[in-house]
Amino acid sequence: MRVPLLDLKAQYDSMRSDIRAAMDEVCESQGFIGGPRVEALEKKIARYCGAPEAVGVSSGTDALLATLMALNVGPGDAVLTTPYTFFATAGSIARTGATPVFADIEPDTYNIDPKQCRAILENPPKRFRKLRFKVLMPVHLFGQCADMTSLMRLARQYRLTVVEDAAQAIGAEYKMNGRKRRAGSMGAAGCFSFFPSKNLGGFGDGGMVVLQDAGLAENLRRIRNHGAQQRYWHQVVGGNFRLDALQAAVLEVKLKHLETWHAARRRNAACYGRLLRDSGVGLPYAAYSGTRMKNHHIYNQFVIRVPDRDRVAQALKDAGIDTAVYYPVPMHLQACFKYLEYRPGDFPESEKAALETLALPIYPELTEPMQAHVAAAIRAALGSDA
Ligand SMILES: Cc1ncc(COP(=O)(O)O)c(C=O)c1O
Repeated sequence: MRVPLLDLKAQYDSMRSDIRAAMDEVCESQGFIGGPRVEALEKKIARYCGAPEAVGVSSGTDALLATLMALNVGPGDAVLTTPYTFFATAGSIARTGATPVFADIEPDTYNIDPKQCRAILENPPKRFRKLRFKVLMPVHLFGQCADMTSLMRLARQYRLTVVEDAAQAIGAEYKMNGRKRRAGSMGAAGCFSFFPSKNLGGFGDGGMVVLQDAGLAENLRRIRNHGAQQRYWHQVVGGNFRLDALQAAVLEVKLKHLETWHAARRRNAACYGRLLRDSGVGLPYAAYSGTRMKNHHIYNQFVIRVPDRDRVAQALKDAGIDTAVYYPVPMHLQACFKYLEYRPGDFPESEKAALETLALPIYPELTEPMQAHVAAAIRAALGSDA
């Protein structure tokens, strides 16, 4: 049996006519940049996330970069973040001229560890002491929020602006001060990606930033459009970070199905939980499952932990099952960040996770027989199928 990591065709087949109609409308209008479809999506995403403002942008990467630019982050500034993430998190920081400074992750959630953040803020490595720590950028990895209660407290104490990298976590819920919040709505800004493999994926690149402050949103709108409020009058240097109307039209259709897809992913996660019980693999830790919030984890990825990861991945491949490694090289060990002078061993939890984690197919249209095939192949590879 073949089990792909993702089956976008199955999703498209279920909504082809709605998507084509929405795209047709944009084609008929010939208005491709910004416009009413982008504004409508911004309003819907803002409402969905529980934030007053939203600004559509060209990708999740550009969401991060443009937000940092709108916050005037640059040379001499430090941004504290996790080394265990997709490259865009750290890359966007470096592209502003600021310095990414890393804090290790919690071993169970893989999210940035507030205790490690505190240790660094209290006593930064010597080479970073002259920098101004300006932003804290947690990543809600794999679809589950970081420990935002502790991180927000830390940010208040050290006067850091919090920018959430919520690229993988649209709709993920978190209880803060007894109130349900959605990923991206707790810090000053929350950055989302509509890369096709995300729970809400477009037909190409796209992104969104949700914000709490109208002034910051205005800055961002300017940055998104080459720093111009009025055409050809540039107050600051920005970029072309705009979201296409065609993407917005597709995403507006897909947004209506997002809760159903989240629920299907949760159902698939529960099914793996049953099928892989006592198999010897480490199952994802759902830190907030006891809070009775349904989207306590949106499972953009279902990531297991196995000591002999590469052999297990090969065994699954031989059984027709696609898997992925998110992420094999932590940021502090990337060649392009050699200048930051980190060494192997600096962030042991991130380094261990990079060696042991394996993402299994979790997409909504995955069937139970497919999941049973995945579980059987894992058990066979681990010798736990007796
Ligand atoms: C954690 C994280 N940050 C940022 C991004 C960047 O998003 P995009 O691919 O839309 O540029 C991604 C996307 O893969 C991501 O997973």
